[in-house]
Amino acid sequence: MTARIIAVTNQKGGVAKTTTAVNLLAAIARRGKRCLLVDIDPQGNASVSSGVNINRLEQGIYEVLLGDANIDQAIVASADLYDILPAAPDLAGAQVELLEFEDKDYRLRDALAQVVDQYDVILIDTPPSLNVLTINALAAATDVLIPVQCEYFALEGLSGLITTMGMVRTALNPELKILGVVRTMYDGRNTLTIEVSRQLNKHFREKVFKTLIPRNIRLAEAPSHGKSALDYDLYCKGSMAYIALANEILGPTNGKHKTHSDEKRLERIPVEQTRGEQAKGKKSKIGAWAGRFTRRKHAQ
Ligand SMILES: Nc1ncnc2c1ncn2[C@@H]1O[C@H](COP(=O)(O)OP(=O)(O)OP(=O)(O)O)[C@@H](O)[C@H]1O
Ligand SMILES: [Mg+2]
Repeated sequence: MTARIIAVTNQKGGVAKTTTAVNLLAAIARRGKRCLLVDIDPQGNASVSSGVNINRLEQGIYEVLLGDANIDQAIVASADLYDILPAAPDLAGAQVELLEFEDKDYRLRDALAQVVDQYDVILIDTPPSLNVLTINALAAATDVLIPVQCEYFALEGLSGLITTMGMVRTALNPELKILGVVRTMYDGRNTLTIEVSRQLNKHFREKVFKTLIPRNIRLAEAPSHGKSALDYDLYCKGSMAYIALANEILGPTNGKHKTHSDEKRLERIPVEQTRGEQAKGKKSKIGAWAGRFTRRKHAQ
C-alpha cells in the first residue's frame, strides 16, 4: 500500500502550518501508522521541533532535491514516533538551483516514490510562500491540509492558494484534493474569530474540520524542547485537539489505542456545533462519538 501524502499549506506566515504538521503526525503515529514528516521549508522549524540539529545536518532534503543524496540516506528517526526528511537553511538556495532541472517541479514527487510504500502517511510542511518548493510539495501530494488562523486577513491568502492549486491540478497533479481546512489558535470568545469561522464554513462547507485547535501555551513551548507537544505534554488541550483532528481524518479508533481517561479528556476538546445542535444541546459528531465510547466503557 502506498502512503497518503498530505501537504500542509497556506502562503500566509505564522498560521500554525508547522505546529499542525508536527503534532498531527505525532497523533497519527500514535495510531500505529508508519509516518514520515517532510520538511521543505528552509526555516527548518519542523526539523527542530522534531529534535533534529539542523546546524549539523550532512544530508537533508536539499541534497535529495538536487540529486546529491538518496532519500533513504537522508531520512532520519525523529525524537517522536515518526521519521523525518529534514531541512536546513541551505534549502533556500535550492529555489534557484532547481531552475536548472527540466523536471524541477517533480523532484520531491520522484524522490518520495522510492519510499512511498514504506509509510502510511507522509506530511509535508511547506514554507509561507508559493515558490518552487511549495510547488514541489503540491506536485507530490495527494491531499492539501490548510491551517487557518481565524483573524483579519485570514481569507486573503486562501484565494491565492486555491488559484495555485487549480494551476497545479491542470499542469502537474490532476489528482490533488483539498483534505480540509483546520482552524488554529482558536479563541471562541473573540468575535472576529467567530466571523472568520463563519466565512470559512460558507466557502469551504464540509471541508472545514469540526475539531478546533485552541490557543495553548504547551503547543508553543514544545518546539524549544525539540519535541512534539504530544511527547512534551500528552494531556494538554493542544495535544488532545491534534489527537481529535487525527481521529476526524482517520476515523475513530474504537478505543484501541486510548485509555478511559483519554476519552474523558477528548470529550472536553472544543468542536464546532451547528446552531441547531447548540440549541438542542446536542454534541457534534466527534463529541457524540466520544460520549458513546464513554457510555460503553461505563457499561462494562
Ligand atoms: N494553537 C496554538 N497555541 C499557541 N501558540 C501556537 C499555536 N499554534 C501555533 N502556535 C505558535 O505560533 C507561532 C507560529 O506557528 P507555526 O510556526 O506553526 O506557524 P507556521 O505557519 O508554520 O509559520 P511559518 O509560516 O513561518 O512557517 C509559533 O510560535 C507557534 O509555537
Ligand atoms: Mg512553518
